[in-house]
Amino acid sequence: MHVSKEKLHELIQSKLHKAGLTLEHADGVAEVLVHADARGIHSHGAMRVEYYAERIAKGGINTDPQFHFNQTGPASATFNADNGAGHVAAKEAMDKAIQMAKDSGVGVVGIKHMSHSGSLSYFVKQASQADMIGISVCQSDPMVVPFGGAEPYYGTNPIAFSAPGENDDLITFDMATTVQAWGKILHARSKNEAIPEGWAVDGNGEPTTNPFEVSALLPIAGPKGYGLMMMVDILSGVLLGLPFGKNVSSMYHDLEKGRDLGQLHIVINPLFFTEINTFKQHISQTMKDLNAIKPAPGFDQVYYPGQRSAEREEAYSSDGIEIVDDVYDYLTSDAIHHNAYDHKDPFAK
Ligand code: NAI
Repeated sequence: MHVSKEKLHELIQSKLHKAGLTLEHADGVAEVLVHADARGIHSHGAMRVEYYAERIAKGGINTDPQFHFNQTGPASATFNADNGAGHVAAKEAMDKAIQMAKDSGVGVVGIKHMSHSGSLSYFVKQASQADMIGISVCQSDPMVVPFGGAEPYYGTNPIAFSAPGENDDLITFDMATTVQAWGKILHARSKNEAIPEGWAVDGNGEPTTNPFEVSALLPIAGPKGYGLMMMVDILSGVLLGLPFGKNVSSMYHDLEKGRDLGQLHIVINPLFFTEINTFKQHISQTMKDLNAIKPAPGFDQVYYPGQRSAEREEAYSSDGIEIVDDVYDYLTSDAIHHNAYDHKDPFAK
């Protein structure tokens, strides 16, 4: 099923509004979800709407949050999201970080008490579109075995980065610190497809390719990915005085309660470090250099990070966005949700 960006936005906005979000917040969430689907990150797009709708309807996402921005130093601030829609809070907090970086060269904003904010590329691109470097990290619910461990401790704790090149060039890197994001397992479930080996383990800690048997995810590159997810948890949890590690709230528990998650945005203004036009030229040159690298056997070319997503976004703007039929049927139905997500086991089938 292919739908235009505008149609998908309208369907998501209307469903979230029906669930209880204000039109303005539903619009903000829809924008971030459509951005993800348009870039081919379906794990963080429209397929999340039913879960959000259930949490909104049950009271676990505040529909009337009082956002509170507190500038704590020339380049530092906290942003209390009051457990409102995470996408809207993260977007607003990034605007604040950009503003501080305009004045001070750097802007660091710690967002406290937020709900899930989706694909982080959206927020770091806000910074690169303003000619700055954006970095963002956030907590996610514990579902990853630490290196050498047999039970989950950290979340899929993503890291995103974006920097501006010349004209509209942007280089954007955005990844979960797990081999795959949990949303990719959900996407495989929604399509009833096997997952590749090396993504996840079952209840016995054995590797599995069955998305319905997944009991924990694996960090990227063993102890190195494990170290990165620890770093993310410290920056977006411990630093902000929030629950951390295995105490981070679960996506699927207690849907009537706020998630109290943390996210940290860091914005760096190149103007304070170098000459901006040269900086942008060199980012564009980096992109060209990478594309010009001789491909290894089995590869058609070397892509710079984010390139394939940007190309998909370009193609989708003319062909429409591909959406799984079940997700489209839900979005066009009268149901707010089908009680699909409220359970104690994050890996429940
Ligand atoms: P991914 O594995 O699809 O991509 C990771 C990175 O690798 C991207 O920057 C992509 O552009 C780059 N890449 C992929 N193939 C490439 C190639 N052939 N050449 C060059 N670069 C390539 O992303 P992942 O790890 O599955 O994460 C998906 C999304 O999930 C992200 O947007 C992330 O922010 C989001 N996420 C959000 C969480 C949350 O709690 N809010 C938790 C975990 C992930």
